[in-house]
Formats: sequence, structure tokens, C-alpha cells
Amino acid sequence: MNASQLPPAQTPAGTPAGQPETHPRSLYGGVVNRRVTVRDLAAAKQRGERWAMLTAYDSLTAGVFDEAGIPVLLVGDSAGNCALGYESTVPVTMDEMTMLSAAVVRGTKRAMVVGDLPFGSYQESPAQALRNAARLMKEAGVGAVKLEGGERSARTIELLTEAGIPVMAHIGLTPQSVHALGGYPVQGRGDEAAHKLQRDAKAVQQAGAFAVVLEAVPAELAAQVTGALAIPTVGIGAGADCDAQVLVWTDMAGMNPGRVPKFVKQYADLRAVLGQAAREYADEVRGGTFPDAEHSFK
Ligand code: KIV
Repeated sequence: MNASQLPPAQTPAGTPAGQPETHPRSLYGGVVNRRVTVRDLAAAKQRGERWAMLTAYDSLTAGVFDEAGIPVLLVGDSAGNCALGYESTVPVTMDEMTMLSAAVVRGTKRAMVVGDLPFGSYQESPAQALRNAARLMKEAGVGAVKLEGGERSARTIELLTEAGIPVMAHIGLTPQSVHALGGYPVQGRGDEAAHKLQRDAKAVQQAGAFAVVLEAVPAELAAQVTGALAIPTVGIGAGADCDAQVLVWTDMAGMNPGRVPKFVKQYADLRAVLGQAAREYADEVRGGTFPDAEHSFK
């Protein structure tokens, strides 16, 4: 390793380079000049610092979240429903995920970008998973990949992590199995299902995952799993006791039409704002008041 290959100084904001740290490094503002890494997330769990993850599917929106200090952005295959107009995540392809992930990486400076492996891109064999995960890293530049499944995906997670690819696992409700599950039911209810979830969580940690998404899981069970794991849990519909939370950005910003799941909090109503802007623009064009002198060249 030469000097140009050394990672940038990991100095928290406000601490001069070379000086001992006087306060613990925070994901929010502590990592200022470089991308968030898996080590930062592990350290945040040690400190008990919670973090927020959002999905992103394009460079402009990703840039907004990056500037807002969101430490981890997921290019989820929820892009299928939320950006590409499919009915579910099932039709999403590797080509689509690669293009969207590359856009999110280009639009960001400090967030860790996690690229989702879409349905059919990793279930065939660990070798297929390695090929596609490597493609997301090489062609899109993501810092980590995510894949669904607990015990059933453990061998794949092991191979990817051995190859140097950070893996975020995803257990509980796994939307790529929508047809097998017959919808999107809450998981882990009842003793047997709870034990299965606990086994899945242990299996992905043992296999080397650096974090695990718990989707649609009773809050008490998610809290137990979070306490039992050394790696961070990222909850979505899994209560308040996970180490981190994730929301689909179009849900939390009010972009999606129709009903949102119970666990979604809407922090904005962008659909109304954009719709109003579009209507005003069309009215002004129709009425001849746009463009006016201010918006025309002399
Ligand atoms: O695809 C996605 O956006 C996800 C999150 C909901 C975790 O998997």
C-alpha cells in the first residue's frame, strides 16, 4: 500500500488532524470526507448510536439524502414498484439495478451505497451471486450488496464476504417471495416462526453479513434479535429497538399514490407539491403568462 492508497483521515468533524479525539465519532457529521464503511456501522452499534437508511433510485434524490446526512442509501429492488412501474420487485433485472445503482453512487459523496441483488440474480448458486455482486461493485461502484434469505442464503453470504464483498442480509418478510408468501404478511408470529427468524438472524451473522434488515417482524421479536446479534439490525416495520431503520423514500416523502403500509410515516407530501407545480405551469402556459419577460432572452 502506498500513501495514495491509504484511506482518508478518519477524523471527526471539529477534531484537528493528528489530535486525539475528544468525543466519540458519530455517523452523523463524524465522517465528513469519505464514504461511510462497514466498520463505521459496527462502531455505531458498539456506541449504541442509531442510524437511518433510505432507498434511492436516481442521482438527484440520492444527492439530497447525502447532503441531509443519511449515512446509508439502499438502491432497493423496490425500484420495481417505486421507479420502474412494475407491480412488484420480481421483474427487476440486473441491468436495471446496475444502471440505478451507478446513478446513486454518482450523486453521492459520503453515504455507503448498498445495491440490491434482484430476484433470480443470486438464488441459482453462490457462483451466480458472486458474479452479479461483483458486477454491481465494478460497474456501479456500490460499497455493499443486499440479498434476501436467512439460513437458505448463508452459503452465498459466506462466499461473497470471503471474496471481499460486504453483504447486508434481509430476513423476515422477503418481498421477492411475494408469490410464495401469497402477499406481504407480517413474519415471525408464533413460537415456531419466531425461532425460525432467530435462526435466520444467527445464520446470516455467522456467514459474515455486516448488517441484517428485519422486515415486518413483531417489535418484541426484533428487539430480542437485535440484542442477540453483534451486527446491526435495520428495521422496517420491526419496531423501535432495531439498531437502524430503513424506509422506502417514495413512501416516506408521500410520492406513491394509494395506501402506504402501517409502518410508514410520511414526512412530506411531495406528490401534492409536484402535482400543484405541474398544474400551475400548465395553467400559465395555457393562459400565455409563461414564459414572461423575466424568463425570456432579449
Ligand atoms: O428493496 C427495498 O427497498 C428493500 C427495503 C424495503 C429494505 O428491500
